[in-house]
Amino acid sequence: MQPSEQISQVKLLLARLDSGTTVDAGGIRHNPTSVYADPDLAGREWEAFFAHHPQLVGLSGDLPEPGSFLTLDELGSPILATRDPQGAFRAFVNSCRHRGAVVVEQPRGTAKRFLCPFHNWCYDTTGSLVNVPKQEHFGEVDRSCHGLIELPAVERDGLLWVHPDPSGTIDLDGQLGEELSSELAHWDLGGLDYLGEDSYDVECNWKLAMDTFGETYHFPVLHANTLSLVFHGNVQCYDTYGSNHRMILCRREIDQMRHLPEDEWSITRAALPVYWLFPNVQLLPFEEGLQLVRAYPEPGHPGRHTSRISFYLRHGAAADAAQTEVFRMMAQRFGEIIRDEDYVMSASQQRTADGGIVPHVVFGRNEPALHHYHQTYRSRLAMDPLPLLEA
Ligand code: FES
Ligand SMILES: [Fe+2]
Repeated sequence: MQPSEQISQVKLLLARLDSGTTVDAGGIRHNPTSVYADPDLAGREWEAFFAHHPQLVGLSGDLPEPGSFLTLDELGSPILATRDPQGAFRAFVNSCRHRGAVVVEQPRGTAKRFLCPFHNWCYDTTGSLVNVPKQEHFGEVDRSCHGLIELPAVERDGLLWVHPDPSGTIDLDGQLGEELSSELAHWDLGGLDYLGEDSYDVECNWKLAMDTFGETYHFPVLHANTLSLVFHGNVQCYDTYGSNHRMILCRREIDQMRHLPEDEWSITRAALPVYWLFPNVQLLPFEEGLQLVRAYPEPGHPGRHTSRISFYLRHGAAADAAQTEVFRMMAQRFGEIIRDEDYVMSASQQRTADGGIVPHVVFGRNEPALHHYHQTYRSRLAMDPLPLLEA
């Protein structure tokens, strides 16, 4: 974020703190609880937003060197992402071309070759089939036609994007837009090292997991003894970028920063920016690193999802291994708060949605991110918009 934008966002937070106000969506909206429980809708959103939509699979730091790889299993077909010997980011269907066994089961690592565990067909990091054992017995195989099936993959500004459909296209200019792309580039996301990851299976719809990131109205209540010690709840800035948006959460440290000259202000000391990349990604950059949250539906089960919460540390942010470990534990603690506080509420909301009697939930004036997210979701699925009701 540009320094001038940082100062204007800090000023806006201070003004809202001083006047006891926050962002205003202009009214309230009712969101049908069925959107969290309807299996037909779950099928449509899976096709539109997951199976046939570009996916953020990580940061450049997830694949730090040639031979680095990672796997994903949340997008239908298993996916293998690699950095090839020339340093290029590649992605493949992680399925052996012999009889379809998953080639690589480890979540991440480094390798020159991948041996399928079934009969040891061997692939390299460019997906080429480089060896078929006992070919004289097996028969002739055209290796050039039996490499791993490649998926569209783009690395830009430190972000790794994959399209799960081999015939799909990744249009980041269209998806993110110029303004958001340039702001994300300003965070130098390529300068982050992978620090760790947690994965949580939660009995709730993936959108309920995302919704919990959409307001700070709940901080003084749900997070009274955790995040509320660090953040002023119910005070934020909010801006949209097409289907995506940015929230600026207010840290309590702003109370000290206001007494400093403006050229000493920093958005990451005064606040926590939260970028919500439609449909399922939250990027939370802070002074020393970044948290990446991704929520994935479980196909066929609207009431279940998996959240992957990954932590990254800026090059040089930690002086030594001991300090790195402290950052790792702090990052892990953040994920545990999401799991033990936010996602407990998400699962409880799911029970209500599954019950089918409560017709709708209510998005307040102070929850504009929820309005925008669900309006975007509905518009992309050609559903009627939610009307704005007078508060
Ligand atoms: S299924 Fe992979 S080597 Fe046979
Ligand atoms: Fe929360």
